Amino acid sequence: MRAKRLIASVLSFALCAGAMPVVTASAEESVSAAVTMGVNSGIAADAANNVGAAAVTTTTAATASPKVTTTTATGNESVVTIRIGDLNNDGNIDAIDASAILAAYAASATNGGASTLSAMQTIAADVNKDGNADAVDASNVLAYYAYSATNGTLSIEDYLNSLKKQSPATTTTTAKPVTTTTTKVTTTTTAKPVSSTTSSATAVSSTSTTQAPVPTTTSSVQPVPSTTTTTAPVTTTTTQPSSTSTTTTSATTTTTTTVTLTTTTTGDPYKVASIKLSKTEIELSVGAGDISYVTMLPATADKREIWSCSDESVAVVDNEGWIVGKAEGICVVTVTSLSNPAVKADIKVTVRDPNKVNAIRLTKTDIRIPIGGGDISYVTMLPANATNKAEIWTSSDSSIASVNSEGWITGLKEGTCVVTVSSKANPEVKATINVTVTDPTKVSEIKLSKYEMDLIIGTSDISYVTMLPKTAANVDEVWTSSNPAIASVDNWGNVYGLSEGSCVVSVISKANPSVKADIKVTVRKKPLPTTTTTTTTTTTTTTSATATTTVTTTHLIQNINGATYVDGILIVNKTYGLSKDYSASALNGNAVAQFELMKKEAEKVGLTLTCSSGFRSYADQERIYNNYVAINGILKADTFSARPGHSEHQTGLAIDLNTIDMSFANTPEYEWLEKNAHKFGFIIRYPKGKEAYTGYSYEPWHIRFLGAATATAVYNSGLCLEEYLGITSAYK
Ligand code: DAL
Ligand code: ZN
Repeated sequence: MRAKRLIASVLSFALCAGAMPVVTASAEESVSAAVTMGVNSGIAADAANNVGAAAVTTTTAATASPKVTTTTATGNESVVTIRIGDLNNDGNIDAIDASAILAAYAASATNGGASTLSAMQTIAADVNKDGNADAVDASNVLAYYAYSATNGTLSIEDYLNSLKKQSPATTTTTAKPVTTTTTKVTTTTTAKPVSSTTSSATAVSSTSTTQAPVPTTTSSVQPVPSTTTTTAPVTTTTTQPSSTSTTTTSATTTTTTTVTLTTTTTGDPYKVASIKLSKTEIELSVGAGDISYVTMLPATADKREIWSCSDESVAVVDNEGWIVGKAEGICVVTVTSLSNPAVKADIKVTVRDPNKVNAIRLTKTDIRIPIGGGDISYVTMLPANATNKAEIWTSSDSSIASVNSEGWITGLKEGTCVVTVSSKANPEVKATINVTVTDPTKVSEIKLSKYEMDLIIGTSDISYVTMLPKTAANVDEVWTSSNPAIASVDNWGNVYGLSEGSCVVSVISKANPSVKADIKVTVRKKPLPTTTTTTTTTTTTTTSATATTTVTTTHLIQNINGATYVDGILIVNKTYGLSKDYSASALNGNAVAQFELMKKEAEKVGLTLTCSSGFRSYADQERIYNNYVAINGILKADTFSARPGHSEHQTGLAIDLNTIDMSFANTPEYEWLEKNAHKFGFIIRYPKGKEAYTGYSYEPWHIRFLGAATATAVYNSGLCLEEYLGITSAYK
């Protein structure tokens, strides 16, 4: 009620005062009083009523403004707005007002004290609040007019106070920041069907926040900025509902009351106190633009902005905050208040170039080259649409390997180094190649035909050696066994199983002993003659739109006297080898007889079939295979020549016809053979297109005797023998 009383007293005085001196009410006092009233009455009423989500807000006009605004009263009380200095109430404090004060002062001096001003004008005229409207006031108005005309932003009161601070004055009407409090009360009532008769109102949270000025019941000639929200230290008042309601019902009523307090501090309403941005981080492509929207607070402040950028090579910003990416990089765009340069806000701007290389792919990341040799790893710069794909090549040691501007690496001397390719447009993006330069006259690598051996005591085996590079001058081997009592090895790499156990047989280059390869050797006792039987099951499922057919094929696999039989058919391929003591020694008699028959039939149509290669012993096959390894290397040799123990020729059931090369495929003999061989019990064993199954490249000349029944069944199936029997052909 204090506010009402004060307002009333100001009002009544103002209305009665027909002459100077005048008395003014302190706006600061008015504000404080009004706030007190709002807080108390608002919370008490809402909490007591248990309303759903009522909010009571009361804010009042502040003092440090060019106008004194009093909050409304009810009933017979009316509202008075007095703007100090603005006698003619035209919104400006200027020379007209000063001259009105002077005229009034002159009139009162000559008219025996009678004033030409109204009661309100009399209050407005006393700008220095000394109780007299006189020449000093007129002079103050003129001084303020000059100040505001040159972009001064203070209120007339603040302006005059600031002058007082500069001189030893004693006036006590200094406006100071006022703390106002906005209180929000939220009440929630929840009824639940429990037999109890208690209810309570509980304040569950109390939060102090700052927020924009709340609409007020302010009456004034024109809207005046009043409350300023700042981030400066604020005074917080926590209020909880002081009363609860108690109801006796058949259910429990639980009342939750949330009280939110908002504390704001009043400062200079024209001065920017804080800047809010819609975004504090922006990512842009080169050439693209974006903006972060600015809110300068308080709403009444001078909102002019100054925009700047920390690195204009990365991004530029115009006067309205529109940011455009210039080049890849990161910079900070800053918006500063023109009126209060201490207040600023930053936007981190990251500019990306979508057309810039961001990754490099290489075809090889490890390269071995002999001294004097060269090699290249092909480069793909990504993304594909990168505008500048220029490469920069460097070598970590150009005395070992040099690299030219196109990535060609030249081996200069033995050693290792790293060759790096980077993007010219984006040098941080790079890829590397480990380069090993070898002496072409020295062995740098040993490859073996087998790295594991399974020996029976008393037998031997060999692993074929390839010394690399092929240009090595000295390819002498040095063989050792980790346990010569289990397996010994001779100077040519023949490994002999001597006693049960495991050991490692190693080979090194005599010229370059650091180059080594190992064979894991297991030696077993000779097993008793056995026949092992294995059954493999192949299930084939065919699905059509209307039916599913499942065909299950079972194959019987037997090992009889060192050879493998699948469904009774002797099989020799990469998977199934012959034991070293397998006993064939010549072409199979039936095979020879059938071949002779076939040969005669062919002769009847003018064709000649001859046997170019028939039976081969283990040693024969070893010699043939070694010869191919020496010429072509192991990997290539394995595609067309069987390792010893794995050739069908060792069984006496295979014959190589006529010319053992691809030209045979284009002869009428081959054309005839394709259509008729099965009738005599032969199949073309390594057909074209079946390399993945047989394990060998196409051999039109190599036929295998199966007997007419099986050969015809295989022929009619269109399958090769491995497919037909459901078996593999691959070295272990
Ligand atoms: N040329 C076949 C695969 C062999 O050497 O037995
Ligand atoms: Zn052959």
